[in-house]
Amino acid sequence: MKLHEVAGSGMLTKKWQIYYILGLFIFSTFAMCLINNVTMNTFKNLPKITTHVLQEMKQKGEKIAMLTGYDFSMATLLDEAGIDVILVGDSASNVMAGHKTTLPITLDQMIYHASSVMRAVERALVVVDLPFGSYQGNSKEALSSAIRIMKESGANAIKLEGGAEILESVNRILSAGIPVIGHLGLTPQSINKFGTYVVRATDKGEAEKLKQDAKLLEEAGCFGIVLEKIPAVLAGEVTRSIGIPTIGIGAGSEVDGQVLVLHDMLGINQDFSPRFLRRYNNLHDSMIQSFDTYIKDVKAVDFPNKNEQY
Ligand code: KIV
Repeated sequence: MKLHEVAGSGMLTKKWQIYYILGLFIFSTFAMCLINNVTMNTFKNLPKITTHVLQEMKQKGEKIAMLTGYDFSMATLLDEAGIDVILVGDSASNVMAGHKTTLPITLDQMIYHASSVMRAVERALVVVDLPFGSYQGNSKEALSSAIRIMKESGANAIKLEGGAEILESVNRILSAGIPVIGHLGLTPQSINKFGTYVVRATDKGEAEKLKQDAKLLEEAGCFGIVLEKIPAVLAGEVTRSIGIPTIGIGAGSEVDGQVLVLHDMLGINQDFSPRFLRRYNNLHDSMIQSFDTYIKDVKAVDFPNKNEQY
């Protein structure tokens, strides 16, 4: 009897030991999954970026990170990385379609790019450029172009280039409930007027007009202003003089955020090297290397091998 009890309690202890180890294993696996999930999707779990969030970021002094994006795959990566704003820029005309300027891209093409981006994005605010010729005619045309973008792509906001000269259109679009971000300084849609992509507003007159335009856009109700290729000191003055965020590209560090063209910052384009551009990768070389190896493998009948076929 005694022996049986002892043997029984021994069995029980062993059983509990197994349960304990099993429990520990299940718990640690679950905890690891949770940690991985949290760290991998940190940004996805944060609330959606809205124009109000950008305003709060300016107030808190938290910088806004914006990059351009034109397609589903890249937008998926941008959103996963935690970018605040994706700009479906009309620079798609250059980097996606191979045009020399931003002028040829059409409203339909912008909507195509914006829709592709919107299918990928959960968190970032998506802003779409109104392309050249879709808003300069009159404010009615500007509004119908903006409405098409919002309706057909599901984007969150639109961007227009210019100040006083497009104010009527800005007002009309805003009164339809469409958030607008302005764009001052170097405005590439006016390249034929400027004749060159050099730094803008270096003289007093142009700097003064830029400051006035920034005020006008803020008073109209724009949620921000992109400042492109202007002196850093001027960009700082504008940023301090208005309550809405400024996003700089080639405008120094005294702005509320930065934007770069995706293909430029990834180093896909090798022939565009303005001083303001920082390259975060050299995808040109690594992609050429991959293509080169693939071509060699195909020619040598090395690809596919036995494990890569059915
Ligand atoms: O189209 C674009 O990419 C832009 C950025 C340069 C600001 O407008």
